Amino acid sequence: MTTKVEKICAETINENRSVDILQEASRLIKCGSLVAFPTETVYGLGANALDETACAGIFAAKGRPADNPLIIHISSLNMLEDLCEITPTVQKLIDAFWPGALTIVMKRKGKVPDIVSAGLNTVGVRFPSNLIARALIEASAVPIAAPSANLSGSPSPTKAEHVFDDFDGKIPMIIDGGAVDIGLESTVIDASGEYVTILRPGSIDAKKLGEVLGYEVGYVKIGDDEAPKSPGMKHRHYSPKANLHLAGSYEEVENIRDEVLMKTAKEPLCIIMEKEGENYCADMEIFKISKYSDMEMYARNLFTSLRYADSKGYETVIVQTVPEEGLGIAIMNRLKKAASGC
Ligand code: TXA
Ligand code: MG
Repeated sequence: MTTKVEKICAETINENRSVDILQEASRLIKCGSLVAFPTETVYGLGANALDETACAGIFAAKGRPADNPLIIHISSLNMLEDLCEITPTVQKLIDAFWPGALTIVMKRKGKVPDIVSAGLNTVGVRFPSNLIARALIEASAVPIAAPSANLSGSPSPTKAEHVFDDFDGKIPMIIDGGAVDIGLESTVIDASGEYVTILRPGSIDAKKLGEVLGYEVGYVKIGDDEAPKSPGMKHRHYSPKANLHLAGSYEEVENIRDEVLMKTAKEPLCIIMEKEGENYCADMEIFKISKYSDMEMYARNLFTSLRYADSKGYETVIVQTVPEEGLGIAIMNRLKKAASGC
């Protein structure tokens, strides 16, 4: 199969060329094929959420374990009623955060195929703010199930090129909407019970959720023999092929680098933040991920930097970490999982 990559700009989405591309993409969705598309968080690998066979295609293409449910993307609130139960709490969250980077897990209705929910009695839904994503869903006239458009276990795609690297020849079309805004996947919250909990941290953090809900929102942590609330928590995630080490400071980066060189004599890639007046000078390639303490820029470039390391064949990567507060919680969640390989 040839994989077509078609460019669309959100600014020119109503021009003929873009409309034609969206028509073609929606035809593919309607006939059960897969289309990758941009969202504000990461690129998604989409299929008609109401078509069981089409959704099975997502699992097959990604190599995704069948017990890891898909999230459904909608382009209008009308689409939501058929999918799940909208409680007053859910309505509050919708009013405050949609469209946006928040996936809400709710009690599901019978129209959602079992395969999407991986047999759970809940379904995760998101109303993206990205205009291209919304135009695609609207043109397809069905909700679109879409996990991140990467092979299972590898870093999420933040550019169309990343999707192409993983799915060239395996899907008919990638819509290239340029680099994404946020760079980390949406916050996933469980709103199916009495109190809302965070299953996966993202750019909408506990503080923002707590302000809307009026109570402190906690994170679900899974113990060793506890069944995970969000099946994705137990699967391998975000990992580059290279071995990943985390370092808090420039000094620690240097120490780990020395150890690596002693063991393998192969230069690692160091991914570091730029500090004004304190330039990291080293006689090797470094990847400057962001300005110091610019968490948004760091998030936007994180998966790009890990994929860059793999594309250049590095065996070891050392990443300078960020404090675990605000967006840093979501960043460190991804980095720790990537480093532990699980
Ligand atoms: O930003 C995003 O969320 C991106 C874009 C494409 O929208 N999508 C994404 O999908 O990251 P995925 O499949 O890579 O991650 C969805 C996460 C998984 O960890 C999955 O286990 C969890 O959401 N999830 C989905 N449905 C769930 C449910 N019913 N109950 C608990 N967790 C669920
Ligand atoms: Mg994913």
